Amino acid sequence: MNIQPFSKTYDGVRVLSFPGLDLEPGKIYAVIGANGSGKSTFAKILAGVLPADRKGRIRDDAAVGYLPQKHYAFRMSTRRNLLLSTNEEARAAELMDALQIRHLEKKRADRLSGGETARMALARLMMKRYDTVILDEPTAAMDMETTAAAEKLILDYTRQTGCTLILVTHSLQQARRIADEVLFFHKGVLKETGTKEQVLFHPSQPETRQFLDFYGR
Ligand SMILES: Nc1ncnc2c1ncn2[C@@H]1O[C@H](COP(=O)(O)OP(=O)(O)O)[C@@H](O)[C@H]1O
Ligand SMILES: [Mg+2]
Repeated sequence: MNIQPFSKTYDGVRVLSFPGLDLEPGKIYAVIGANGSGKSTFAKILAGVLPADRKGRIRDDAAVGYLPQKHYAFRMSTRRNLLLSTNEEARAAELMDALQIRHLEKKRADRLSGGETARMALARLMMKRYDTVILDEPTAAMDMETTAAAEKLILDYTRQTGCTLILVTHSLQQARRIADEVLFFHKGVLKETGTKEQVLFHPSQPETRQFLDFYGR
């Protein structure tokens, strides 16, 4: 997938400028950076839910799945939330098992806890096949065990569908565990990008080194 250069300005302040980038299919791209560095803005513009400063095509592919940072549930059972866009019951059961929400399948999804809602929302997204998937901090509300299950699912989904997966994460450990490539944002600028080994273990930019030192290398 090709991403065109773009920028985003709020009230006269530029919060993001992106130089454009080619992303390969079948790979996981972790997007890391401090709070407010522009990660969610990047995700929203890629997903097409927020316009960039200059309108026009940002990406070159059509089928995009997007999981926003704030998860939502429709007022119906967990199971029905998963079956909204397709009627593949077996897939729904498989995903609910994988994310340990099978026991909640009949429960109204808008009454789930934060962590349960996060698992339901990820499962709902993975009911469909996309060329590009954008996940904005999908495991932030999950505990250790369910995070591991979610990471395995994200890996399997990427390898099986051959999609390009963009994973915004607050967790460097998560990036280390499952990313192939890393994008490091600093104050709205893409400071460094490359393979996981390059960016997380041999960073070239002082801002990247500082970030890694602070958050635990
Ligand atoms: N709707 C908005 N109006 C004004 N400023 C915004 C809006 N959304 C985000 N911002 C600002 O843009 C910057 C980047 O935010 P965001 O992309 O959410 O960062 P991150 O996800 O990395 O924490 C922040 O300074 C934030 O305050
Ligand atoms: Mg964010």
